[in-house]
Amino acid sequence: MTDTSPLFRPFECKSLHLANRVAMAPMTRMRSPNYIPNDEVVAYYRRRAEAGVGLLITEGTTVNHKAANGYEQVPAFHGAALDGWEKVVEAVHAAGGKIIPQLWHVGSVRRPGIGPDKDVPGYSPCGMVKPGKVVGHAMSKDDIQDVVKAFADAARDARALGFDGVEIHGAHGYLIDQFFWEGTNQRDDEYGGSLENRSRFAVEIIRAVRAAVGEDFAIVLRYSQWKQQDYSARLVQTPEELGRFLAPLVEAGVDIFHCSTRRFWEPEFDGSDLNLAGWTKKLTGKPTMSVGSVGLDDDFIGETGMAMGGDAAPVGIDELVRRMDADEFDLVAVGRALLQDPQWLEKIRDGRSEELTPFNKMSLANYF
Ligand code: PHB
Repeated sequence: MTDTSPLFRPFECKSLHLANRVAMAPMTRMRSPNYIPNDEVVAYYRRRAEAGVGLLITEGTTVNHKAANGYEQVPAFHGAALDGWEKVVEAVHAAGGKIIPQLWHVGSVRRPGIGPDKDVPGYSPCGMVKPGKVVGHAMSKDDIQDVVKAFADAARDARALGFDGVEIHGAHGYLIDQFFWEGTNQRDDEYGGSLENRSRFAVEIIRAVRAAVGEDFAIVLRYSQWKQQDYSARLVQTPEELGRFLAPLVEAGVDIFHCSTRRFWEPEFDGSDLNLAGWTKKLTGKPTMSVGSVGLDDDFIGETGMAMGGDAAPVGIDELVRRMDADEFDLVAVGRALLQDPQWLEKIRDGRSEELTPFNKMSLANYF
């Protein structure tokens, strides 16, 4: 039986006090009618907290900007939805868990016809959803400041509701990543061009969030090299470039980097087996969270090319434990394995591997 104790060490960072190193990854559920988390959503998070998951990161939840939302029944993080979130926080805390919201703006992934205001197009640095494909509105500087303020307001609300920190969604080709990525950011002002300029939007958001929540509240930034528009896209090609990308984000106030990859065991650069979270920790000295197909034998894109699009069988976690024991990264987020089985972590801890079940795409709607 694998010694899983490296996963069960406590972790502390500012407002985050976690009993273990395992987080539930943010996963879009589209189960919040009228954009309000209901009692079913409360129970969904409570179940994972009761089963000892160290940290719950909520599904992406949209900041208060008219173009933030990209999918129906995704919960908002403003207005009437905040009462729903308050119930989620209370339930998770009552079960001994910790929880942070993932604050989200989808940028040009939004299509007209999606609510809440169906006439609003996608907003993005140059209107592009992928290189050369203009589908929406190119953001003015006023638009940029509106979105910066929306993230800060959401973070302030998160703190007021009792959340244990916040995660800013800067990954996967959504709005913040559309600014990072030169494929979708061809602006000729101070928000486009150099790597430093393409990070300016994120830096302004992080600074505004920090000013809204104070020094002692943990800010997590999720980022990725891969984009949903292009799985092989890269923001940076070398460790040196990665260091240049990360430095202003640290300076702006990120406490923990959540480094999204599709397979956590893959080396990020030649010449070292460190993954993206490993490199990020080494280069910044900040705690990092890894993610990517933990406990399963196929990634979440699968053969269909769609998120959650494939089946995957359970596999052992020896390689994960080895990396955590070496302190390559501090935390690990687990997505589908915890979606299909809220007790996944308890089973791993107790060596009940014969009870682990496969992830089945046809059962997605039943996993809750
Ligand atoms: C999705 O709903 O497919 C999705 C949402 C957020 C992500 C990635 C995928 O970051």
